[in-house]
Amino acid sequence: MKKIILSLLALMTVAACGARTPLRRGQEISVQLPAGFQKPSDTKPTDQPQVTDVDKTYYDTVLQPLLEKKCTMCHDDKFGPFDSAKKFVVFKKPDESKMYMTATGKEFSGFKHRQVFKPDSAEAMTIVTWINGGKVTQ
Ligand code: HEC
Repeated sequence: MKKIILSLLALMTVAACGARTPLRRGQEISVQLPAGFQKPSDTKPTDQPQVTDVDKTYYDTVLQPLLEKKCTMCHDDKFGPFDSAKKFVVFKKPDESKMYMTATGKEFSGFKHRQVFKPDSAEAMTIVTWINGGKVTQ
């Protein structure tokens, strides 16, 4: 009995395949997409905000209080308002950012500032994070 069912199944499979003409290379076929189905080209990239500049909230709430304590005694307002502090950094380039290079005492364009933060300190990383587009997430 088992044998009969198996051979019947095999026969049916052959019959089902044989009923269609095989596809030829380059042959045009049309495919009906199920309702609501989106082709990949129809989907939009996820609405991830593109970070293109340093973040003001991060500066105001995380970095500025730090600079207020460590820099304003000598620099007055230079590292106070966001727009002023921003002039001392190059987005995503800590090594080209005057703020990071001076604060960590690294030489920059022939200028060597006293070291306020060690390069691997949490404070220096706070500056690097900001330069690299760090954001405050609630
Ligand atoms: C003890 C005083 C002192 C402290 C504290 C200090 N600086 Fe300075 N800084 C100076 C002096 C002096 C100069 C050189 C003169 C100038 O350009 O103002 C200077 C220059 C600079 C410059 C170049 C100036 C420019 O306009 O291009 C930057 C940038 C800078 N400091 C950043 C910082 C940062 C960031 C901090 C805090 C992390 C800091 N400094 C803390 C004294 C200080």
